[in-house]
Amino acid sequence: MLPIHQLKELQRKLQDPIDFTQLTGTIKGKPFSFEGRNHLLDVYRDPHPRIVIVAGRQVEKSETVCRKLLYHLYTRPHTTITYTAPRNEQVTRFVNDRFRKAIAESKGKILEHSVDKKRDAKTAIGFSNSSIVYFGSAWSDGDALRGISGDMVFFDEVQDITQTAIEAIEKSVSHSEIRDHELEINGRCFYTGTPKQAGSYYHRVLWGQSDQKKWQVTCVHCGREQFLSMDNIMVENEGTDKERRYFGCLECGGELDRTNGRWVPTKPQNKLYSGYLFSQLNMPWISANQIWRDYMTMDAMTFANEVLGEFYSGSEQPVSIEDVLACTDRNLALKTSSTIPTVMGIDYGSGGKSKTIIHIGHREVIAGKRKLVIDYIENCKIDNHEELVAHIVKLVDRFNVEKIVGDIGYGSYEAQKLFEIFGRMAIACRYVTYQTDPKKREYKGEYTLQVDRTYSMDCLIEMFKRREIVIPYKDPELVEPFFDHYTALELKFSESTTSTGRKLYDHSTPDDAFHSLNYVREGLYEVENRFEWAGVEREDFNSRIFDDIDELPSENDW
Ligand SMILES: Nc1ncnc2c1ncn2[C@@H]1O[C@H](COP(=O)(O)OP(=O)(O)O)[C@@H](O)[C@H]1O
Ligand SMILES: [Mg+2]
Ligand SMILES: [Zn+2]
Repeated sequence: MLPIHQLKELQRKLQDPIDFTQLTGTIKGKPFSFEGRNHLLDVYRDPHPRIVIVAGRQVEKSETVCRKLLYHLYTRPHTTITYTAPRNEQVTRFVNDRFRKAIAESKGKILEHSVDKKRDAKTAIGFSNSSIVYFGSAWSDGDALRGISGDMVFFDEVQDITQTAIEAIEKSVSHSEIRDHELEINGRCFYTGTPKQAGSYYHRVLWGQSDQKKWQVTCVHCGREQFLSMDNIMVENEGTDKERRYFGCLECGGELDRTNGRWVPTKPQNKLYSGYLFSQLNMPWISANQIWRDYMTMDAMTFANEVLGEFYSGSEQPVSIEDVLACTDRNLALKTSSTIPTVMGIDYGSGGKSKTIIHIGHREVIAGKRKLVIDYIENCKIDNHEELVAHIVKLVDRFNVEKIVGDIGYGSYEAQKLFEIFGRMAIACRYVTYQTDPKKREYKGEYTLQVDRTYSMDCLIEMFKRREIVIPYKDPELVEPFFDHYTALELKFSESTTSTGRKLYDHSTPDDAFHSLNYVREGLYEVENRFEWAGVEREDFNSRIFDDIDELPSENDW
């Protein structure tokens, strides 16, 4: 038993989030340390009721959420907290790999003793002081989370949570006894994420109405204060094998100690949110060399978002996560077979990390609207051609598939095989550019259908926007991994000497599932319009595929 004055001292220390974390926490087998992490001190201690972090990747956002959760739960009895992230799988990973682990591996298991064994589940963990934390996915459990009457909400990966869900879940703290008398708001919210598109709720409201604190570094050599930018990355011994990049002072060129800084609000007039920008530039364990490498290799948007933590969008996002979620149906499950006729779309992987994505779907009229209902989605890891064909044949049988549409690029072997087995029921889709006639469909060779890429993709985008896609959502984890693909598209206009420019869809993250689903749509179109395979000219079509590409679009075509 400790002497009373030491016990009092300990209790006092536990009231400070930094001391609490250092006294109780370990990470990767070592005591939790804030060394080289001066920027975290204010964030841990900030009493503001609405805190927003805008951050690059791998800058310890989730770890910060985990430690703040523990601090509040353990030091304030009867505290109810909600943790939410967009996807089910992200929530489960946080609970098991971070939160539950941090408790189990606390110093001397000190935090473990207070876990209420009767309330220690995947969805909620209770503590002996009557505090409780709920875990739920914002995409699929949003309704349940809004019903919790709590004191705090922690939003992780908030860039992927819709405005509607954020606002609904925030309401769960509106009756909290924690009250900020100056701002006259109840409860506390903590939002953290990595920026994506400019113009989002995260950008406009959460960050936009915050005081936007940035880390200002003071040069230890000359005293000059500066916010770090790519200009601070300097080079010594350039061109020699001792070449090295480092963070240098803009005034004197001396090497900067990036931990020697302070948070400075750049919009001090904004009081509603307390905002912090976590750029990788300010993380001392991320070297100038590494950032320089990323700068040279990443596309501009990814670099701005994931390294600098800045909102940036070179292009519009045609399908948003709101669009995808509006197409989900919680009462519907994916199927293992089908008695009614279906269509299969296949986007073949190039091997390695890129897998073959298969969608199966059918047409259904629901409440007077013609919809594409998804029956089955698979991220297929088979990369042996024969085995893949055998797998597809089995699916065709089980799902009563009446049309198969695959891509031609990586799937040329499979396309040939499937044609040999199924005849014209199995076709390959090749995207081309039909500048003057984007609706044109042209049959080439024995089993290839050519369509205009932008027009074809536009048709699926429209279906998402009009809620004409139905995504079974009874088991979120089966379908959520594909949502990033559906939303990966970026709208670009290619340079052009004419006034219009050409509309193109690009992507910087994988979009294979979008195309796999688009091939289902193309297949349905084929089935419903019963096209004749008329123009089977014996020509060398390969040399003519790109004939149309350089034609300029007519002003009316887009
Ligand atoms: N204080 C710390 N000391 C050592 N490692 C840490 C610390 N905080 C986080 N990490 C580790 O750094 C990695 C990235 O942290 P994480 O919170 O997942 O980042 P983010 O959510 O920003 O992507 C994780 O492996 C985590 O365990
Ligand atoms: Mg994280
Ligand atoms: Zn200096």
